[in-house]
Amino acid sequence: MSSKAVILVGGDTRGTRFRPLSLDVPKVLFPVAGKPILYHALVALAAVPSIKEVLLIGFYDDSVFKDYLKEASAEFPSFSIKYLREYRALGTAGGLYHFRDAILKGNPYRLFVIHADICSSFPLKEMLEFFDDKEAKAVILGTRVEPEVARNFGCLVSDPATKRVIHYVEKPETHISNLINAGVYLFDRSIFDVIRAARTAKAEEAVTAIYDFDDEDPSEILRLEQDILVRLAQTDGFYVYETRGFWRQIKTAGSAVPANALYLQKLFQTDFDAPGLAKPSATIIPPVYADKTAYIDPTAKVGPNVSIGPRARIGPGARVKEAILLEDTEIKHDACVLYSILARGVRVGAWARVEGSPIQADQHSTTLVKDGQRVQSVAILATDVTVGDEVRIQNSIVLPHKDLKSDVANEIIM
Ligand code: GDD
Repeated sequence: MSSKAVILVGGDTRGTRFRPLSLDVPKVLFPVAGKPILYHALVALAAVPSIKEVLLIGFYDDSVFKDYLKEASAEFPSFSIKYLREYRALGTAGGLYHFRDAILKGNPYRLFVIHADICSSFPLKEMLEFFDDKEAKAVILGTRVEPEVARNFGCLVSDPATKRVIHYVEKPETHISNLINAGVYLFDRSIFDVIRAARTAKAEEAVTAIYDFDDEDPSEILRLEQDILVRLAQTDGFYVYETRGFWRQIKTAGSAVPANALYLQKLFQTDFDAPGLAKPSATIIPPVYADKTAYIDPTAKVGPNVSIGPRARIGPGARVKEAILLEDTEIKHDACVLYSILARGVRVGAWARVEGSPIQADQHSTTLVKDGQRVQSVAILATDVTVGDEVRIQNSIVLPHKDLKSDVANEIIM
């Protein structure tokens, strides 16, 4: 019996928090641990033999995924992979409903739905087993977070013994639970009945509400969270599989740095000799991922948790740690780059210092309070930014093509 997966990739308007990095490349194709964010979900799906088709659903222009789909089709021969474009943002369940015929084609018996903007150990096989064990109709991946941050997510209350979800609230105003929706679901075909019922209820509400008839049909826009999961929690058959593996959202540009670290550590622990992983040495502190065309001077000290893109160059005596360096970046001799992202073509001068601050794993936030001011944890230099010799950049975001000749701290340079 075959199964399928849908990855919700969103679209342009959703990537705003990922700026300035999404100016160049859509968020889901931004590289972490040397590969597009999307790739990490595809690897996990490829490990599930029953999956024969993966559908990316979003509202980006078709051209955005053209090249990557070719690459991914060659890399993941166990399933076919397609992009289905919503004619406008239909919400996290609207696209599922709109493309229901394509999704149900071939009679898949299970459907994974995955948010593209998460970094996870993706325990998909465990979710399938749990689904069968419970004779479920729907399983959601849950993870525990600190109580202070739980309200930024969908919160679940479940029966501690059976794990049945009895209450679901999306981003509640008051604390409900620290078990949150981790953005991975497994459904059987009956999910389309629930979506249909939610759609009908919305359409009926719309008839009684006063709305502008120039508006498009409001019942087309369906949110998996508020419109579907809340309903599912009132039925039998909806369970939570709680993961103990790593999990993080990749929302802001800065969150690519901890995601990069988590995926690199996973790769290093599971396949020490994986292609691209630099061999540990006196100056390479693992895990470090380096494209084969990158150059690291033997006297530079690099790692841990660094990804280095094509043709990047790290000069003598430089220090790089907890960072993503994209293609054609250059770090001159004795410069230091910590907790930072350098986009394509960034140049960091000799003895310069580009630095962010360590990110607390349990805080799920990429800002911190410094001298009474909320600032970015990670320093982000967008495409073709140049940092002069001996200049120091701290906790700042710098938009493309800037030439920085003096120190910058806790700022956004437009
Ligand atoms: N196709 C499509 N169409 N995808 C969409 C749309 C849409 O209209 N809107 C959002 N997405 C995609 C996003 O690209 C992302 O991958 C995912 O759906 C969820 O995005 P958001 O709607 O921005 O929700 P969120 O990230 O604030 O919160 C959701 O994810 C959390 C886990 O990361 C909720 O499901 C929370 O409950 C959950 O905890």
